[in-house]
Amino acid sequence: MAELTVDIAGLRLQNPFILASGIWGETGATLARALRAGAGAVVTKSIGVAPRAGYANPTIVEVPAGFINAMGLPNPGIDAYKEELEEALKPGKPVIGSVFGANAREFCALARKMEGYGVHALELNLSCPHAQGYGAQLGQDPDITKRITASVKAAVKIPVFVKLTPNVSSIATIGKAAEAGGADAVAAINTLKGMAIELELCRPVLSHGSGGYSGPGIKPVGVACVYDLFGAVKIPIIGMGGISSGEDAAEYLMAGATALQVGSIVYKKRDRTFTHLSRELSHFLSSHHYKSARALTGKAHGRS
Ligand code: DHB
Repeated sequence: MAELTVDIAGLRLQNPFILASGIWGETGATLARALRAGAGAVVTKSIGVAPRAGYANPTIVEVPAGFINAMGLPNPGIDAYKEELEEALKPGKPVIGSVFGANAREFCALARKMEGYGVHALELNLSCPHAQGYGAQLGQDPDITKRITASVKAAVKIPVFVKLTPNVSSIATIGKAAEAGGADAVAAINTLKGMAIELELCRPVLSHGSGGYSGPGIKPVGVACVYDLFGAVKIPIIGMGGISSGEDAAEYLMAGATALQVGSIVYKKRDRTFTHLSRELSHFLSSHHYKSARALTGKAHGRS
């Protein structure tokens, strides 16, 4: 049997598959359910300083090869999230706290509280494609990315991951800025900006208008971003975007990822997601005579 265990910035994962932010992440019970169903780790919903209701419905629409969503960063606020994390931490596996803020001060306050609640690492959301003043509006700028990352790194001891947007001309430039700010890993990619139009009503389907496109349709974009990042940074890369099979996972690993996140596939495979992906990746590795998932990282670059 090929070895699926991976290490990312000091975290040991039983397998490379991490539940992505925004999927089952608003409650501790659903995060714990993903861990008990075999996830290597989970990422929380992005949490901010105050409670937010999010946008009006509709907030998600299924499109060919995926979904477009614009939830509007709904979350209970950092203070109320403490008890959710107590639940999420019960299975004893890595929990990564995702946070979003409007500036370095908010990010630091959120990061300190998350660390105090016991999360094993942080993921900075510098990539939500549609929230005014948050996410990608900060993460499309390399100087802001570097400054926020460096501030959070100075505020906490746990590893800090930076989640990047593909909606830029050079994701490598933003990845380098996160690395220069001291990031322990980068996660790529967040969703691609997208829109669906409701023809009979002559207006966008989603109440917010545009949203983030995820699912199998974005996989080639994610693989290209991970490939570019691997050539640009030395820190590990967490790859994601449309992974729904063991072969998809192998592609991301060969492009340069050390660990992987999954989101849209969870809507199809539910609790079977993680055992399904682990079994398929295992099969791919054994049938191609690889000893471990680790051995695949960066293979497509012909230098390892
Ligand atoms: C939301 C969407 C994102 O892509 C993200 O990174 C954070 C939040 C949302 O709509 O809530």
